[in-house]
Amino acid sequence: MLVGNAIYLDYQATTPIAPQVREAMAVYSEELFANPHSAHFLGHQAAEAVEVARAKVESFIGASAEEIIFTSGATEANNQAISSVLFANTTKRNKILISAIEHKCIKNAAYFFAHKLGYQVAEIPVASDGMLDMQAYQSMLNDQVLLVSIMAVNNEIGVIQPIQQLAESAHDVGALFHCDAAQAPEAIDLDVKELKVDMLSLSAHKVYGPKGIGALYINNALQAALPPFIHGGGQQFGLRSGTLPTGLAVGFATALDIAREGATHNRAWLAAMKQHFIEGLTQRSIDFTLNGKADNTHPGCLNIEFVNTDATALLAAMQPEVCASTGSACNSAFTQASHVLLAMGLTEAQATSSLRFSFGRYTDLPQIDRALDIIQQRLARF
Ligand SMILES: Cc1ncc(COP(=O)(O)O)c(C=O)c1O
Repeated sequence: MLVGNAIYLDYQATTPIAPQVREAMAVYSEELFANPHSAHFLGHQAAEAVEVARAKVESFIGASAEEIIFTSGATEANNQAISSVLFANTTKRNKILISAIEHKCIKNAAYFFAHKLGYQVAEIPVASDGMLDMQAYQSMLNDQVLLVSIMAVNNEIGVIQPIQQLAESAHDVGALFHCDAAQAPEAIDLDVKELKVDMLSLSAHKVYGPKGIGALYINNALQAALPPFIHGGGQQFGLRSGTLPTGLAVGFATALDIAREGATHNRAWLAAMKQHFIEGLTQRSIDFTLNGKADNTHPGCLNIEFVNTDATALLAAMQPEVCASTGSACNSAFTQASHVLLAMGLTEAQATSSLRFSFGRYTDLPQIDRALDIIQQRLARF
């Protein structure tokens, strides 16, 4: 995708809204703007649209009726999943397990709520390819564990974890299992019953839907035991109050419909783009190392270490022509290496030499060739 002259290779940060999604949403900011919780016919029309959207999101992940609630995104869904399980706990279990490569919104929420409510957090290590260390996981599981949270698809290196197996192991010791699946819809099929997860988080803007909406799946059997996350008028089965954004819900559901219909084609397209990028790096004799597992990963995600190069400076040198991502959190005083790459055993220097390129439905071969030429030119300046 070109934005002006800029080549956009940052689809895992966010995707543009698909034209069909924009079209489906338009009517809800115009004549169908009514509050979906209002007791008049315009309100009923909006409520009907929300419930159709809810059913579509449920169907996308194989959930039963009334098993998802709309949230503002995956950050909120993840915060709700962790905090509500801790608040509801009436057992002596006092541990949360998360993987060492979770998104910051799982990590920070887990530590915050655990600290406030008297729980411990332990991080499950990963191997050098980013896959969870199964032996370590098994040894950390015991009857003290209340909740396990492991992401389906990593946002920096694209590794796909065996969620069904991980959830079954958690259940074997009586723990609940939550999965952050924000990056999953473009990479893998999702079926919450097959995966055996108790809770699962989604985000619309990672799948060509609008920003500001996501969803939390909560298994029916668990729902009644959980307290509300946002208190108010009792919307969404009493679990998450607030007026529902009809247009965003419809846009999200439409985006998932499109993702499902185009999954096979889209994944093959992304894989071809990724392959072309890797080959192009080699053809241009660029000194690089691939971070993370080489196969069975998100087809559109590529994390590259540019050997002995400051990635933040390289990204800056590529502006305004190529948009990619460092995966590092920048502070005014220093650049912090990605916790994901460090957890895989990369050194600080290797981690801060790494950039993530993520491809999408609107990426094509000429864009990749041009981006590679620009990278090669800019690297020559270092
Ligand atoms: C794996 C993962 N989880 C959670 C989030 C947060 O999603 P949202 O922007 O919808 O809050 C992101 C987005 O960066 C992500 O990649």
